[in-house]
Amino acid sequence: MIEWPASDTGWDDQSFVEMSLDKILNRKRLVILGLNSGTSADGLDLAALRFSRSSKGVRIKFLQGLTRRFDKTLRDEILRCSDSRRVSLEELISLDQMLGVFFGRKAVAFVNSLATSGVAVDAVASHGQTVRHMPSARRIGPYHVRGTLQLGSPEQIAKITGKVVVSDFRQADIALGGEGAPITVEAMRRLLADSNESRLIVNIGGMANFFYFPRGAGSSGTRAADCGPGNVLCDLLSKRLFGEKYDRDGRRAAQGEVSGILMSLLKRHSARHRKTISTGREVFGVRLIERMLASAKRHSVSYQDVMATAAEFTVRSILERVVPIIARDSRVEKLYLTGGGVHNKFFVRRLKTHLGDVEVDTVDKLGMSPDLAEAAAYAVIGHNTLVSRPTATRFGSPTRQTGVPILGRIIQPPARVSW
Ligand SMILES: Nc1ncnc2c1ncn2[C@@H]1O[C@H](COP(=O)(O)OP(=O)(O)OP(=O)(O)O)[C@@H](O)[C@H]1O
Ligand SMILES: [Mg+2]
Repeated sequence: MIEWPASDTGWDDQSFVEMSLDKILNRKRLVILGLNSGTSADGLDLAALRFSRSSKGVRIKFLQGLTRRFDKTLRDEILRCSDSRRVSLEELISLDQMLGVFFGRKAVAFVNSLATSGVAVDAVASHGQTVRHMPSARRIGPYHVRGTLQLGSPEQIAKITGKVVVSDFRQADIALGGEGAPITVEAMRRLLADSNESRLIVNIGGMANFFYFPRGAGSSGTRAADCGPGNVLCDLLSKRLFGEKYDRDGRRAAQGEVSGILMSLLKRHSARHRKTISTGREVFGVRLIERMLASAKRHSVSYQDVMATAAEFTVRSILERVVPIIARDSRVEKLYLTGGGVHNKFFVRRLKTHLGDVEVDTVDKLGMSPDLAEAAAYAVIGHNTLVSRPTATRFGSPTRQTGVPILGRIIQPPARVSW
């Protein structure tokens, strides 16, 4: 047997890391900071949650959260790398580092402000910035490949914050034959489901996705999938047509009429991409709006009408997914919205009009901020991972999975050495 004397390394083992993994693993109470930067590339959402483990299970308490906008350089770079087919490896490597530093700095500032109110963060759970999502398998010789790529170096976050970081949640689902999305279903269930009420939740982020948690059915009746575009088409068109980041309060869309020609184009396009349960800017992104704008020019469709059509198509893509669920489960009396799309009054008004008797509200009513639900979900997944708990990513639909994944990779902060 060979033993390594501690003195071999020249430093004292006790002073390695402020909050090392082994200290975390045995703690019954953990505060985890969830970080989310979605496909809209508007900014970083930060949500701190406390997890208390006992023999009865895990109690989760949302503590505080906020959003930090990306600076122009970073936002432009994210959108360029996400939307361009020709991105060099050097550009991706650079963006990974830039994002990691941005996430780390925003996280450490929030960690420090939480510390002043007596909250000590134990670990960070970072989703990273998706720059490519490939839910359909590509055939390359004998290989069938699917994958997804999130950037934002967790090593930088760990170095800057001095905390253990859990990241890259989607890769384990891919390895088990999934699409790598949606992965927040179980976390959302823990945060937003209720055993006495059937709940339908729609997140309108860059893309839109729904979560259905039937009353009393545990996890077995749960359903979730992407619906199609969320804010993405309206954001891209606002930028191109009006030089604005997004259609504030849905005002531009409200000034226009739906164009039948453009609506058919959008419907044909989305019908061609129905085979997957997740989607991204590759399908609903710049190439699609180029086609919309070319068609709008040929048929003299006004800018406002282009906006109205994109917004109405977004709403109809959501309805296509949720209406059959409402028809099947009469106990769904409300649709709870989350994500930045809750601020788009056009979306909300049109959803209300189409849904008639089913009330439309936001997750505020469930005690969760619509701008922070995804970041909170990543804190839940990060906690699962740290306590070696699997996170189910498939519910109901047929699966080729061979197990339930423990999502994410664990990165440890550098040791603080006293020589
Ligand atoms: N006042 C507003 N009016 C209209 N739209 C708004 C308003 N405020 C925010 N939004 C929309 O919300 C978007 C950001 O939403 P969100 O942060 O949920 O998306 P995301 O970062 O892509 O998240 P996800 O991870 O769910 O994809 C903005 O890009 C914008 O389109
Ligand atoms: Mg966002």
